[in-house]
Amino acid sequence: MRTIMLLSALLATTAASAQDMPMTDRPPEPKWSLAIHGGAGTLTRDDMTPEREAEYRAALQAALDAGAKVLADGGEALDAVEAVILRLEDDEKFNAGRGAVFTWDETHELDASIMDGRDRSAGAIAGVTGIRHPILLARKVMEDSPHVMLAGRGAEEFAAENGIETMPPEWFDTAPRREALERVKTEQVSALDVDIKFGTVGAVALDRGGNLAAGTSTGGMTGKRWNRIGDSPVIGAGTYADNRSCAVSATGWGEYFIRVGVAKAICDRGLLAGENMQTASDTVMAEVKTLGGDGGVIVVASNGDAVFSFNTSGMYRGRATSGGTNEVAIYGEE
Ligand code: GLY
Repeated sequence: MRTIMLLSALLATTAASAQDMPMTDRPPEPKWSLAIHGGAGTLTRDDMTPEREAEYRAALQAALDAGAKVLADGGEALDAVEAVILRLEDDEKFNAGRGAVFTWDETHELDASIMDGRDRSAGAIAGVTGIRHPILLARKVMEDSPHVMLAGRGAEEFAAENGIETMPPEWFDTAPRREALERVKTEQVSALDVDIKFGTVGAVALDRGGNLAAGTSTGGMTGKRWNRIGDSPVIGAGTYADNRSCAVSATGWGEYFIRVGVAKAICDRGLLAGENMQTASDTVMAEVKTLGGDGGVIVVASNGDAVFSFNTSGMYRGRATSGGTNEVAIYGEE
């Protein structure tokens, strides 16, 4: 009893002294930070109607708000990343989940990954069909399997055993994506000509506990064949998170992002060379450009900086921080 009374008195004194502290002496509130993307590519005002632009901005804002709420309420970076990507996967404007591009064989093969910066645990799935939320399956692989990456039929079996939601194939079909495939087939244009906006989705976050997380989800490239897999499920290329440095999610021409190992290269420049994240991201994206690739990245640093870098004319993007930043943008000059 005496111990409880002493403890109560101590707690009351501590609370009172924190309240009595002048504002300047109080420890700062722990920061949180969030950045999101919905794809990079050829995005100019001439290609957009005002209505279409408003739809994209509203979709990005809703996804940003969903993740920001998790972080502002003291939730974890992983949950914020998941909250953002769940929304974008259900939105057919983006190339992930419903609205994913068609393969050559008129299916949708989905790729996703997620990474926890605390211990660099990671989960990824590649070339799966019928999974409503690939990001949930990637997280399941991370948290409930001894593996990092599962692919194809095996990943679908793992999904079924773990109660992951599925949808019939036609649920993923959308008219613009079918037209894009028809163009690739009949006009013999490349996927790059029709996937001018790419459309992969991703999020990176720092929570109030100082933990970083990153996630990415995509349908890949229109008309892909032979079980082609891009950078999005490749840890270190499309996704990376390390509490000592940064969290990165990439979008763009996946082959180049794999070759450069974009996401880890950015974090390593911060960790090993002490570069700030804008310089690190711009340097690595310049390397991608030199090789002939294009796209972009979103990055949140362990100090809370939220950074974009892209070598395309635009990137669907947004960022929000505990410091009051809250913005979405599409074009390069914004
Ligand atoms: N960046 C997505 C892909 O290449 O599949």
